[in-house]
Amino acid sequence: MSADQETAAGVPRDGWEVPVEVPGGRAYPVRVGPGVRRELPQLLSRLVGAHRYVLVTDDTVMRLHGEEVLDLLRGAGLEVSPLTFPPGELFKTRESWAALTDQALEAGLGRDGAVIALGGGVTGDLAGFLAATYMRGIPLVQLPTSLVAMVDSAVGGKTGVDVSGGKNLVGAFHPPRLVLADTELAGTLPRRERSQGLAEAVKHGAILDRRYFGRTRDDAGTLLDGEPGATAALVARSVELKAGVVGRDEREAGLRQILNFGHTLGHALEAATGYDLPHGSAVAMGMVLEARIGEALGVTREGTARELARVLESVGLPTVPPPGLPPSEVLRWTGRDKKVRSGRPRYVLLREVGEVEPGDNWSHTVPDEAVVRVLADGGEGTG
Ligand SMILES: NC(=O)c1ccc[n+]([C@@H]2O[C@H](COP(=O)([O-])OP(=O)(O)OC[C@H]3O[C@@H](n4cnc5c(N)ncnc54)[C@H](O)[C@@H]3O)[C@@H](O)[C@H]2O)c1
Ligand SMILES: [Zn+2]
Repeated sequence: MSADQETAAGVPRDGWEVPVEVPGGRAYPVRVGPGVRRELPQLLSRLVGAHRYVLVTDDTVMRLHGEEVLDLLRGAGLEVSPLTFPPGELFKTRESWAALTDQALEAGLGRDGAVIALGGGVTGDLAGFLAATYMRGIPLVQLPTSLVAMVDSAVGGKTGVDVSGGKNLVGAFHPPRLVLADTELAGTLPRRERSQGLAEAVKHGAILDRRYFGRTRDDAGTLLDGEPGATAALVARSVELKAGVVGRDEREAGLRQILNFGHTLGHALEAATGYDLPHGSAVAMGMVLEARIGEALGVTREGTARELARVLESVGLPTVPPPGLPPSEVLRWTGRDKKVRSGRPRYVLLREVGEVEPGDNWSHTVPDEAVVRVLADGGEGTG
């Protein structure tokens, strides 16, 4: 790319475009950059062409960005109705899904309609599940507004809701037609929510790209401030890395498991704390602990856990589990993860930062004692 095609911050003038392959389906573009939301009407006409749209968003994001997006669509002559629900994970439920289906019917959304999800991962998952099931499936467009949604949930085609038995247990694969990650929209995101998204970005670097991992550490301050250019560069690379994985393995038969690095213990910590710990914080702790397990087993290069802890701390994430959690209690929850295969929890282990040890189909079983020992050590040894 020549210099005159770039802005001062090194952002290409037109942002980035990352194609995501869908095995057995149609590929979709992810457009990333400050201001890409303005392309929405034109891209909808080209890639979706629905007769009516519903814009699904939570009350917070509606208040901050809803009117602007509605104006953008109506200004281009598109028919659109807003459908809203209260913000937060507590509302990623079948009840919210049912209310949204009723509202969509009342709005006259037909088989030739489409769903636009404007919001964080909760909105994307819920609106995605609405699109997957409404009239047996209508097109979905993702407009992520949180960093979690931009670097992670808007790409990959997983949609769903939480039930009393666990998170994300009812859902469907329903890849979007288009994803527009406008980093200006994330400007209103609270700093602690940015840290949550950065946990998954650090994970992408840790499993696939050492240079990207280092850049995240170097840019930590700017990223926490939400600078749209630096954020866009981060999102674009994370999407590229995730797309490279899900494009080859959409349904988690093999390679996609590497995206679960830090998640076996991360999910267990979330559950063991009664979901008091936010997901990104739990995954940050999980990555450090799983790296230490890898080091103890001689699979992961010495010092990797410490390196991870430093980067995670630089982006405002905790790396040590809350005190007073008995290791046996955490271990108990690892056995309940969806990713358990033949009764044994699986762990993704690194060789070093930027590279996963392939093991048996990209994951490993680990002796319980090794997990308990690392949990019992608490934060010791990560420096
Ligand atoms: N489908 C997947 O592959 C996948 C991957 C990762 C996470 N997820 C799901 O994503 C969810 C977590 O996502 P999340 O952290 O974005 O949650 P979220 O959607 O609840 O957003 C977090 C909070 O930030 C607010 N918010 C969002 N954008 C904002 C903005 N621009 N300005 C101000 N406030 C804003 C929301 O209203 C909410 O209160 C979980 O339910 C998780 O299961 C799904
Ligand atoms: Zn995650």
